[in-house]
Amino acid sequence: MSVEPAEFQLPAELIEAYRRDGFVKVPGLLSRDEAFRYREAALIASEKFPKLSSYSIFDQNVNIWRVDETMRTLTLLPKLQSWARQLAGVPLRLWHDQILTKRPHNQAPTEFHQDQPYWPHAESPNSISAWIALGDIPVERGCMTFIPQMQHRNDLPMQNLGDPRSLFEICPEMIYERRVTLPLQAGDVTFHHGRCPHMANANATDEARVAHAVIMMDAGAVFNGVGHVVTDPLGLEAGTLLAGELFPAI
Ligand code: SIN
Ligand code: NI
Repeated sequence: MSVEPAEFQLPAELIEAYRRDGFVKVPGLLSRDEAFRYREAALIASEKFPKLSSYSIFDQNVNIWRVDETMRTLTLLPKLQSWARQLAGVPLRLWHDQILTKRPHNQAPTEFHQDQPYWPHAESPNSISAWIALGDIPVERGCMTFIPQMQHRNDLPMQNLGDPRSLFEICPEMIYERRVTLPLQAGDVTFHHGRCPHMANANATDEARVAHAVIMMDAGAVFNGVGHVVTDPLGLEAGTLLAGELFPAI
């Protein structure tokens, strides 16, 4: 484990909460001013660069750090990296980042799912995503809801984040689990484990919901050969370590 700068040290209770529940909210990654500056940059970048998807659930610009200088600064923020390392407790690499925008009145929640089954990874039991609020994200604008203590469920097939029944058809016993909804103010961040089930409400407000997700995997993660938009252009052999300048160490 690397020694973390004292000014980035997270309280032990937050680290314990993440390890127990599979998610945690950390206020104040950015000041309000910084968050709104990054919001402007994200809105410009999301129009300037191609979107992976532009549909009712959210607009998604993947790997924006590779093409936009300002968003790169946010994705590679030393404080964010230090927090992720402390929570995950293992060496990490960047898997990808994405701007996730829910348009005003988009009417479509992001339905419950785990992230890890979407990714072509082997050997990444500690994947962790940071979800940064670029603007205020109350419940009505589409903040995230998590199901605690389910991150150990590594036996579930991919769930469809467009279908509200998907996770619960696969895993009926989760229907009655506690759910925790975490509204964020501009500059706050939630972290969630790659197998923590989560959803986000639809945006019922007049303002876009802009979140920036920074997604990290174990430093030893290898490509498992399954198709994915991030790895498809790379022509990797199954079993290749996901390393190098496209997947920098965190
Ligand atoms: C969202 O931003 O709407 C969902 C993010 C996620 O599923 O990780
Ligand atoms: Ni997700």
